[in-house]
Amino acid sequence: MPKILVTGGAGYIGSHTVYQLQQQGFSVVVVDDLSKGHAASVPAGALHVFSLFERERLAALMQAEKVDAVIHFAAFIAVGESTREPEKYFHNNTAGSISLFSAMADAGVNKLVFSSTAAVYGNPTQIPIPESSTISAVNPYGESKVMVEKILDWLDTSRGLRSIRLRYFNACGANNDAGLGERHDPETHLIPLILKAVISGKPVTLFGDDYATPDGTCVRDYVHVDDLASAHIAAVNHLLGGGATGAYNAGTGRGYSVKEVVAAVEKVTGQKVPFLMGPRREGDPDQLVADSSRLRQTLGWKPRFDTIEAIIESAWVFEKQNLT
Ligand SMILES: NC(=O)c1ccc[n+]([C@@H]2O[C@H](COP(=O)([O-])OP(=O)(O)OC[C@H]3O[C@@H](n4cnc5c(N)ncnc54)[C@H](O)[C@@H]3O)[C@@H](O)[C@H]2O)c1
Repeated sequence: MPKILVTGGAGYIGSHTVYQLQQQGFSVVVVDDLSKGHAASVPAGALHVFSLFERERLAALMQAEKVDAVIHFAAFIAVGESTREPEKYFHNNTAGSISLFSAMADAGVNKLVFSSTAAVYGNPTQIPIPESSTISAVNPYGESKVMVEKILDWLDTSRGLRSIRLRYFNACGANNDAGLGERHDPETHLIPLILKAVISGKPVTLFGDDYATPDGTCVRDYVHVDDLASAHIAAVNHLLGGGATGAYNAGTGRGYSVKEVVAAVEKVTGQKVPFLMGPRREGDPDQLVADSSRLRQTLGWKPRFDTIEAIIESAWVFEKQNLT
């Protein structure tokens, strides 16, 4: 079976993907500097703790392990922090990716799956959003990913680096069989924050109810992390089979408002969610919902989790078992 290098494999989405790759028989090597991730989320022996910026070490590892393709998750992910410290995001996410791509060139590896994001669409004019929409980020985090996507276009032309950019919408949920779930620090994502509020009784602040949506709260497309993992496997198989470069939305195509998520959490947990309604947060678009027909039709992807309740249930089981 092919050997895959996974950068950021000790993080949330990376660790779920590593688990699924191994379940399907792939050999996996992980590089993660543990700036955010958790060593315990990676199978023993697979983890190499160093940074994307160690280009020669990356190239040597790829050569020694005879890596066939790379899945590149390693990045910083907090939109709010990126607006306060843009250099940190352009350095780690954009320059760090360039270091990886140079190491891949040195090692002769020319297949890559890249973690992009719905944030590349900025304030979209069309919902659901097709991949043909204008790319125009509204924060440095999104821009750091736009830049990598553009670099990948040039590398495809100039040296045949084939890449699939998966533009994830809101990743959520857990794989409790694998003991894996969302453990960001600090946590900025809605579902774990709401579940933590239910457990602690301390209210969570929700960001605004004056958006141009039916109930005034932001609408997002919540996709289970295991469904994202299976999208990566479909993408890597596509590249290994000689498939072409492309960008694909990874979302379910169904949007839920913040208030609908709160109601679904109350249904799943049987408890009231303590919350305060705060003001809008800068840079939050009204709605982000994927048109994922390209991923479904071209790569044969089909999400297993098709209700918000099923996703929340998996995250709820994980939160109760991992009380901090
Ligand atoms: N979580 C989401 O909802 C979401 C949505 C869209 C896109 N994404 C993208 O998916 C990817 C993974 O997100 P996540 O939620 O799993 O984040 P995460 O923080 O849990 O995982 C990222 C991992 O990368 C590692 N890392 C960061 N910089 C590194 C470097 N320079 N060298 C080596 N390792 C480094 C961290 O230690 C961490 O383990 C990111 O690229 C993110 O931008 C996430």
